[in-house]
Amino acid sequence: VTDWWLDEGSTAGREHLDREFVDGYDAKAQYDPAEDVTALRHGGLGPGTTLIDFGAGTGALAAAAAATGARVVAVDVSSAMVDEMRRRRAADAAPVEIVEAGVLSYIHHGPPVDFVFSRNTLHQLPDFWKVIALRRVAEVLRPGGILRLRDLCFDVEPSAIEETIDAWMEFAAADPSLGYTSDEFADHIRGEYSTFTWLLEPMLERAGFEIVDREVRLGIYAAYTCRRRGGSAR
Ligand SMILES: C[S@@+](CC[C@H](N)C(=O)[O-])C[C@H]1O[C@@H](n2cnc3c(N)ncnc32)[C@H](O)[C@@H]1O
Repeated sequence: VTDWWLDEGSTAGREHLDREFVDGYDAKAQYDPAEDVTALRHGGLGPGTTLIDFGAGTGALAAAAAATGARVVAVDVSSAMVDEMRRRRAADAAPVEIVEAGVLSYIHHGPPVDFVFSRNTLHQLPDFWKVIALRRVAEVLRPGGILRLRDLCFDVEPSAIEETIDAWMEFAAADPSLGYTSDEFADHIRGEYSTFTWLLEPMLERAGFEIVDREVRLGIYAAYTCRRRGGSAR
């Protein structure tokens, strides 16, 4: 049999494998997990529940989720990120289980979980692999479980692509240590796999999810809360 499976290290984003970049990641990402934790708590996150964060990066959301009393598994494919996450999370009162694996290669042990979170990771995968990744997420979630998905995707009609991108560029950072610059936005558009919301949403549905809430900022930054439908995702 010819092996056709993806090497997720090859699509993880070169910068995420780079220890210097990873060291400055939190300052650059400027991600505050409070809003996502509030949404997850609203869905029942807390003691007695389990959450998996795919593409957890330095573990900001994972740590905040663990502080609610939930069991948290933080998965990332980059060994540099995983090492940084271990360092940053070492002093946390609520432990996070850290696993070096991809969303496609992660092997789940134990019963299906209640929550999956993933932020700015799905766009690392081409659409074919996004569908497989979402199917895998559905497989680890119990029916009724919640997927909170954040990513950069284009919530725009074909006729309005350029104006949406131009407006997005206005929000680029000048200092690359404190945000993403317009050159990095351009690299993202050219080299990564952010798709359109109107392609992603049917992928979610096909993979076994019902979208219960969606919010898109600037036509780019999407946040979905999805419920895993009952029965088999396949
Ligand atoms: C832009 S960072 C986002 C990190 C974190 N979720 C956040 O919001 O700050 C993308 C992360 O996804 C990881 N990643 C990329 N492809 C992945 C894959 N196929 N499976 C798991 N993690 C992946 C990268 O190593 C990186 O840590």
